[in-house]
Amino acid sequence: MPEQQLTFIHISDTHISPDAEYGKHHTPHSTYDGAKALVKAVNALPFNVDFILHTGDVVYDPIPEAYMTAHDILSQLARPVYYLSGNHDSGADLQRVLLGRTEIVDPFYYTFDANGFQIVGLDSNGPAEVPRGNVIAQQLEWLDAICSAHDDRPLVVAVHHNALPVGSPWLDDYMRITNGEALHQILLKAKDRLRGVFFGHVHQNIQMLQDGILYTSAASSWNQFNSWHGSSETVADGENPGFNVVSITASQTFIRRWNFQVE
Ligand SMILES: [Fe+2]
Repeated sequence: MPEQQLTFIHISDTHISPDAEYGKHHTPHSTYDGAKALVKAVNALPFNVDFILHTGDVVYDPIPEAYMTAHDILSQLARPVYYLSGNHDSGADLQRVLLGRTEIVDPFYYTFDANGFQIVGLDSNGPAEVPRGNVIAQQLEWLDAICSAHDDRPLVVAVHHNALPVGSPWLDDYMRITNGEALHQILLKAKDRLRGVFFGHVHQNIQMLQDGILYTSAASSWNQFNSWHGSSETVADGENPGFNVVSITASQTFIRRWNFQVE
C-alpha cells in the first residue's frame, strides 16, 4: 500500500484588479499579468495535485468587479481551489463570485477532508487595525474543539495573516495577528497531528518553527518583499513571483518553492 499522501499548491496574494495595468507601480508586471502567469505555471506542472490553496488577498480591493476578473483568471486552474479571505478581500463577494454560493458565511472559516487529511481554513480578518489581523473568540472556540478532539487524521491549517513574531518589526508590529499567541496555544493541542500552518500576506517565503509547529508562507504572484531580524520598513525584493508545492505524508511535510517569470 502506498503511504498516505496529500499534495497541494500553495498560492497567495494575487491582488487581481479589473484594470489589467494595475500594480505596475510596484513591479514591472501588473497583478493581472502575474495571476495569468501563475495559472499557466501551475497548469504546466508535470504531476497531479489534490487541490490548490489560495491563502487570501485574491483581489486588490474588495469590489465585485475585481472578483469577476479573478473568476475569469483563476477558474482556468485545472484543480479545485480553496480560498481564504485576506485583508484586501470581501469574504461575501469571494463566496458569491468565486464559489457561486448564495448562502454566505461571515466570518468565512471552514474544514474539509482530503485523502484522509483534515484541512482547516481560518478567517483572520477580525477587529484589528489593518493590515493587522485578528481571529475572533467564536472561531478560536471552534478551532479549540477541533484541536482537542480525538482525531487521527493529519491536520493542515491555513490562515491569511502571519501569527507569531519573527523578530522583524514591520511583520510583527504592522502585519501580524494581534492574538496570534492565543491561536498558537490552541494549535499546540493538536501538535502531534499538525503538519503545518500555511499563510500569506507577507509576500515572501518564510519558514518558522515554534514549539514543534511549522509556520510557512508562499510568495505572491505580484510583488515580493523582504524581511530580516530588526527590519522596520517594507522593502521590495526583486525576486520573481512564485508558489509552493506541498507534499505531506503521515510523518513528513515537504515544501518545494517554484518561481516563474511574467512575460
Ligand atoms: Fe494581506
